[in-house]
Amino acid sequence: MLTAKMLESVKKVEATRGERMGMEPRRMTAEEKDALLKEFHPDYSIAGFDQIRVGQNKGEKAPLELVNLLHSNSRILGMPLDLTHADYDVDVLVIGGGGAGASAAIEANEAGANVMMVTKLRIGDANTMMAEGGIQAADKENDSPMQHYLDAFGGGHFAARPELLKRLVMEAPDAIRWLNELGVMFDKDETGRMITTHGGGTSRKRMHACRDYSGAEIMRTLRDEVINRGIPVAEFTSAVELIKDDKGQAAGAVLLNMETGEYLTARAKTVIIATGGAGRLHYQGFPTSNHYGATADGLILGYRAGVPLLYQDTIQYHPTGAAYPAQIFGALVTEKVRSLGAMLVNVEGEAFIHPLETRDVAAAGIIRECRSRNKGVPVPEGYGVWLDTPMIELIHGEGTIEKRIPAMLRMFLNYGIDMRKMPILVYPTLHYQNGGLEINGEGYTKTIGNLLVAGEAVGGIHGRNRLMGNSLLDIIVFGRNAGKAAARKAKDVTLGNPTLRHLEEYARELEEAGLHTGCVSPMLLPDYAGKRHM
Ligand code: FUM
Repeated sequence: MLTAKMLESVKKVEATRGERMGMEPRRMTAEEKDALLKEFHPDYSIAGFDQIRVGQNKGEKAPLELVNLLHSNSRILGMPLDLTHADYDVDVLVIGGGGAGASAAIEANEAGANVMMVTKLRIGDANTMMAEGGIQAADKENDSPMQHYLDAFGGGHFAARPELLKRLVMEAPDAIRWLNELGVMFDKDETGRMITTHGGGTSRKRMHACRDYSGAEIMRTLRDEVINRGIPVAEFTSAVELIKDDKGQAAGAVLLNMETGEYLTARAKTVIIATGGAGRLHYQGFPTSNHYGATADGLILGYRAGVPLLYQDTIQYHPTGAAYPAQIFGALVTEKVRSLGAMLVNVEGEAFIHPLETRDVAAAGIIRECRSRNKGVPVPEGYGVWLDTPMIELIHGEGTIEKRIPAMLRMFLNYGIDMRKMPILVYPTLHYQNGGLEINGEGYTKTIGNLLVAGEAVGGIHGRNRLMGNSLLDIIVFGRNAGKAAARKAKDVTLGNPTLRHLEEYARELEEAGLHTGCVSPMLLPDYAGKRHM
């Protein structure tokens, strides 16, 4: 049920729709974008950040909540664990049950390695599953990986690590082919050719999709493949620390059975961290589009073991999280809605920004409209702006919403809002961590030769902002690569004596810095008791 104020504003949106249909909002200049970001993007907030005071990135800034976890001690510090006994003994240990972890496990298995996955929830409980709009790949005649590279490099403020971005775009067409052959039901036209669309910041239509549940369809397929291959998956089993050996190599992980509270150990010749994002840390009080387990665990494990972070101070706020009703506050409203033509419109019915500006710019534009121009629409949690969804069927014809974005249609219909007939309210939601553990072009961490990272836990693939569809792509490209590389590497690794000395050294550093947060990390599950976000 919309409020009277909302309904009054809807009338204004309807009144301006005809005129807006015939115009395209102006694109902002580079200078205008820079000024907008500096004033309104949360990455520029001073209050939202603190300085890291221990470890490889000492002296650099990170979100307060992440700093707190980095400044906390291990939950197993001082615990008498018998590391000479291994509950699991494998070539390749994959930590994480999402798209990157599953892709890695499949390729390691394909290469003949003895691989297992551990995941703190169930396989597929991951941000991959939540991804909606699609996956980019330059595989059409008018496009090229070079064009894809230029779009992503510019969209990421020229900060992406070239060797990582190059791998991403060059291996994208093969990633689509691989997924298609595994059985992903991509949208295709009547001739069998894949349908591709634009996303924010793309110069070509290269977004491949499965309606608006692309991630769920991809995850379904990967999960089936893992199960069909008989790859062991320890579910409800968190990796709570990496084990190293006396040569400084990764040697496995200490695991926590989330159901029994029992600690176990896994010995492994190579380890892949594929633990995903951090949305459930709710940086700066933002709601999130992320799944329940997105608590930055891999960043903590890797950092404590001595792997540096890269771009940990840059976060992606998706411009269009649902702002109303409260039950779906922060849930993702896919960018595909805008790529199909829906405009962002303020309380007066004015289009205030081009709908396909890159995400950081669009998010900052919405925040400015609500906070400084006083042109947001009041919602119980704060403010929102309209996403004028009825435009989609005026542009593409009746039935388009049901056909192209059925999950969105249903999400709002559940609350009596028919997006075919009326606009929906949106506000930025915490969506993606642009930063993460630093790797080289081969997927290995810089400091530990047999430790790899894949997926959202990696920093540097996208620079300081990511384009839509490049995350589903990176989990496949870097997941597959990590699985192949880890299987190869395992053949050359001889493990020394297992140790957790790095935890003691880290604890000493914390002590010397006078840091006592009273918490332990990784967090594993979000802490909602007594908290209200936003
Ligand atoms: O808007 C979306 O569908 C999100 C896609 C992405 O983050 O890549």
